[in-house]
Amino acid sequence: MNITIRRLEQGDLAALLEIYNHYVRETPVTFDIEPRTLEQRQAWLDGFASTGRYQCFVAVKEGRAVGWAGSHPYKDRAAYDTTVMSSVYLAPDATRQGLGRRLYDTLFDALAGEDIHRIFVGITLPNEASVRLHRAFGFEPVGIYKEVGRKFGRFWDVATYLRPFGG
Ligand SMILES: CC(C)(COP(=O)(O)OP(=O)(O)OC[C@H]1O[C@@H](n2cnc3c(N)ncnc32)[C@H](O)[C@@H]1OP(=O)(O)O)[C@@H](O)C(=O)NCCC(=O)NCCS
Repeated sequence: MNITIRRLEQGDLAALLEIYNHYVRETPVTFDIEPRTLEQRQAWLDGFASTGRYQCFVAVKEGRAVGWAGSHPYKDRAAYDTTVMSSVYLAPDATRQGLGRRLYDTLFDALAGEDIHRIFVGITLPNEASVRLHRAFGFEPVGIYKEVGRKFGRFWDVATYLRPFGG
C-alpha cells in the first residue's frame, strides 16, 4: 500500500475533521463530546507552522489524509513553552499498519533542534495501541489521573506520559 507522510496542508482539513469527529462521537479517546466544526478545526490547523515547536504531519493514502501527528502548546503560561503536547490520530481503517510510528518518526525528526525539553501526552485508558506507541517512542509514565473525565455516562482515567526531548 502506498502511503506517504507529508506536512499538513489546508486541503486536509475536512478529512481530518471527519477522523477526529469519529473519535469524538464513538470513543473516549478525546474528551470532546460535541463534534467539532470546520471553523474550529481551521483554528487548530492555523496553530501549526513548518518550523518551531508546533508542527503537524499527515499520512496520505490515494490522495486522502488518513491521519496526523502534531505538537501543540501544553499550557499558555510562558515558562511551560519548552513543554509541548503531542497528538496522533488515524482513521479506523488506517490503524495497525505502522503509520503511528511513521508519523511520530517524522514529527520528532522535524522537532529535533527546536527549543523543546519535554513532550507530554495524556491517554484515556484503556488504549493499548496508544500506550505501546508512546512507550516505543521513549514516553515515560508519570501517573494516572483517576476519573477526570465523564463521557458516555461513566468516568475515565487518563494516563500521563512525558518524553525527555532535546536539551
Ligand atoms: C494510537 C494509534 C495512533 C496507534 O497507531 P497505529 O498506527 O495503529 O499503531 P502502530 O501500527 O504504529 O503500532 C504501535 C504499537 O501499538 C500496537 N497496536 C496497534 N494497534 C493495537 C491495538 N488495537 N491493540 C493493541 N495493540 C495495538 C502495535 O502492535 C504496536 O506495538 P509494538 O510497538 O509493541 O509493536 C492509532 O491506533 C489510533 O489512531 N487510534 C485511535 C486514536 C488514538 O487513540 N489516538 C491516540 C490518543 S492518546
